[in-house]
Amino acid sequence: MNRKTAIKTIVLSLALFFTGGCASNSAAQSAGGQSGASLYKRLGGYDAIAAVSDDFIARLATDKQLSRFLVGVSADSQKRLRQLVVDQFCQATGGPCLYIGRPMKTVHAGLGITESDWQLTVKHLVASLDKFKVPDKEKQEFLALASSLKPDIVEK
Ligand code: HEM
Repeated sequence: MNRKTAIKTIVLSLALFFTGGCASNSAAQSAGGQSGASLYKRLGGYDAIAAVSDDFIARLATDKQLSRFLVGVSADSQKRLRQLVVDQFCQATGGPCLYIGRPMKTVHAGLGITESDWQLTVKHLVASLDKFKVPDKEKQEFLALASSLKPDIVEK
């Protein structure tokens, strides 16, 4: 590689690096609204999101109407599912995680999740957010993120 080509390569690499950086930055800001700090940060970061997710999943698993969805799911598969939910919430709130699970529509298709199942799910999510004293503004933002998934989850 001659000197001119080498300089061109470096300039191109830097340009790609910075445009990539800006893209992920703006994704985090969109989860942060106008205030600057991402919802992820305002919620208290990874541990806070994991704690809310664990409490939420435990409520779903012990709900009389919803526990049918977890019948036959092994303990190990439940751990996998839990991790995917944490990753998804972490990424959606502007955190540094990457959700590598399947799309919501694909994974819930055929389960026959009803409006009533959804309402119960939201009730449990609210209870978990309240348990960890998530302030109202952050609670509403989190619920809005979860609600945006509803069309891909509810079938009936
Ligand atoms: C906020 C709402 C919800 C979120 C964020 C969510 C998220 C997820 C995620 C990340 C997965 C794993 C994806 C993968 O395996 O690649 C999953 C699977 C699953 N979800 Fe949900 N879910 C939601 C609502 C519900 C509801 C309301 C039900 C039923 C009442 C439900 C039942 C299931 C079941 C049974 C699976 C396992 C499906 C399988 O592996 O075959 N989910 N969900």
